[in-house]
Amino acid sequence: MNFERDINAKINANRQGIIIVERSLSSTNLYAENLIKNGAESGTVVIADSQKDGAGRRGRHFFSPPGVGIYMSYIMLVPKGAQHIELLTSAAGLAVSNAIDEIAGIRTKIKWPNDIMHNEKKLCGILTKLTADTLHNIITHAIIGIGINVNQADGDFPDELKDTASSLRIASGRECDRAALSAKVITELDNILRNIKSKQLIKELCEKSCTIGREVELTTQGKSIRGFALGIDSKGGLIVSSAEKKLVVTAGEVIHCRQKG
Ligand code: BTN
Repeated sequence: MNFERDINAKINANRQGIIIVERSLSSTNLYAENLIKNGAESGTVVIADSQKDGAGRRGRHFFSPPGVGIYMSYIMLVPKGAQHIELLTSAAGLAVSNAIDEIAGIRTKIKWPNDIMHNEKKLCGILTKLTADTLHNIITHAIIGIGINVNQADGDFPDELKDTASSLRIASGRECDRAALSAKVITELDNILRNIKSKQLIKELCEKSCTIGREVELTTQGKSIRGFALGIDSKGGLIVSSAEKKLVVTAGEVIHCRQKG
């Protein structure tokens, strides 16, 4: 597949980890789990042109048709005693958002925790899976699964997504080179994950957030909370003021209740 050659041509040949490109997989995240079992090194990436069973957050399916998207899993070995593991997903979100902005020439926003958005519609979702050494109770690997809607046209999304999903092509008005974008995403992930600088990361996440400053409805641990999103704390949690108290939500689903400003 030329896709593989084109990505490798645009990437630093000395980077750690191989890049595997497949025509069709059940799920790149599942494939990455097997690569880890077989001793994959940190920085190994698997990309598929389509997925039969792409996994989304909260058990949802991720729409992964051929020829128009990027479905990628990036494997990171988590060193013993690594700091800022809780910021991995946020860091990946920022890396992908920056890569999209540069290659597609648009200005994306991040909906907490890490959906990448343009004009209130979703361009990209990220699903991170941590694997642990249960004997020693330590996290050993992170699989960062990234799904980007790249070259879909308006009518290409199924009914259940057509009001909420968009693509880089729709957002920018032109087709986007998937190999160039894949290479840029990998390079940005290599850089950001090598050394997570938490203060700088939180500052940039706040600047790109389309959740902060909004009335939000959060579903977390089976409960629904309504409040106002104030900011992001040092661990990537969303700071929300609700019924006169302030709380930090570390995981959950957010609905933006009304337009900003
Ligand atoms: C979400 O927004 O719900 C997260 C979607 C993550 C989808 C990506 S596509 C590549 C990787 N492999 C999967 O099966 N899922 C992730």
